[in-house]
Amino acid sequence: MEDSKSQDLKGFYLDCGFRTRCLHAGEHVGQPQHATHANAIYQTSTFVFDSAQQGAEYFSGEKEGYIYTRIGNPTVKVLEAKINALEGGDLKRLRPDVRVSTLAYSSGMAAIAGTLLAVASAGDTLLMGDVVYGATEHLASQVLRRLGIRTVEVDTSNLDAVDRAIRAHPEARAIFFETPTNPMLAVTDISELCRVVRAVNPDIRVAVDNTFATPYLQRPLELGADIVVHSTTKYIGGHGTVVGGLMTTIHDDVKNAAYTVIKDVGSVPSPFDAWLINMGLKTLPVRMERCCANALGVARFLESHPKIERVFYPGLESSPFHALARRQMKHFGGMVSFEVRGGLEAGRRLMDNVRLFTLAVSLGSVDSLIQHPASMTHASVPREKREKGGVTDGLVRVSVGIEDVEDLIRALDEGLTKA
Ligand SMILES: Cc1ncc(COP(=O)(O)O)c(C=O)c1O
Repeated sequence: MEDSKSQDLKGFYLDCGFRTRCLHAGEHVGQPQHATHANAIYQTSTFVFDSAQQGAEYFSGEKEGYIYTRIGNPTVKVLEAKINALEGGDLKRLRPDVRVSTLAYSSGMAAIAGTLLAVASAGDTLLMGDVVYGATEHLASQVLRRLGIRTVEVDTSNLDAVDRAIRAHPEARAIFFETPTNPMLAVTDISELCRVVRAVNPDIRVAVDNTFATPYLQRPLELGADIVVHSTTKYIGGHGTVVGGLMTTIHDDVKNAAYTVIKDVGSVPSPFDAWLINMGLKTLPVRMERCCANALGVARFLESHPKIERVFYPGLESSPFHALARRQMKHFGGMVSFEVRGGLEAGRRLMDNVRLFTLAVSLGSVDSLIQHPASMTHASVPREKREKGGVTDGLVRVSVGIEDVEDLIRALDEGLTKA
């Protein structure tokens, strides 16, 4: 389907900077009849064949062409090509031998489930980060377990613990973790973790949930990981308008197995959702710059406030992850968690009274959000496990948006007075 001009454009985009790739990669490649400037939305379930012969050729794989949106769609393909150029763009220089592929999903959880089902089968073991998004924990401890996939938790920010876990489970097929974690903002040293696990098991797949960082701040594939997943519902979409997910990998076998799961399970995004996410990506760098600067301002304010017990933010010099985050990430991200003195009740009063921070789950939108992990995003995690990971009843999480930081600080200050 791609002519030589399209091939040339693809190569050209890969040599461009990150901001340019956010805007252009994947677009105007394999142009349809009407050369629209904005990426067109192919809001169609099925595609027309020129002839019965052509339909048969598309189905047999003899020729490439669109058949049916669960199997592939041009609007979705633009999104996949763009994230491919963002997560994997610089790999062309670092590891010219590898081929990067991206698949889009209907949600972040669909991407995580699809990825884990692509790398593990009944009887296999997976190592999982011990603090992850609530639904990821539930997927691992309940759904995968029911399918005969054993999951073992490990604190991936502690490399000694990772070393012990991989020695105890040399048969593990993959290790999956978030960095920074939701909601504790713990950071894992991706390249060191790759070194530690591969010293014992060179075939293990290292999979990183890069939702909190985005490829603008951190690119796990460049640091040695095999697989990256995203909830594009968050920073990548960026406007709180869509639910979606992505998986990028350097392994064809993972891509092929994941694609089979997508086709057979039907976990594809709608073309319109893919279009919205692609639009979000265009402004990712400018939004992230502002979110990160604002989050640092908010974290510093909270750290100095007498009503705050503790702040979790890798951008603070007091964070045990500060040096690592500085090395591994471009900036420290837009998420801040903290404990208000007075525990849950004080936290609730803050959430009920604070202005500007909308009381809602999710994160990564242009506007600021506030929520309570223990009773909301992480409510499905058993209390004991939750508290062991630091998700206490008093913990509050904010997703800092791109408002004027003075206004955010004033709103929090007022809210804390009422707490
Ligand atoms: C780190 C992380 N990964 C994955 C997910 C799941 O994404 P989605 O809600 O798009 O399925 C979330 C949702 O909050 C998340 O925070």
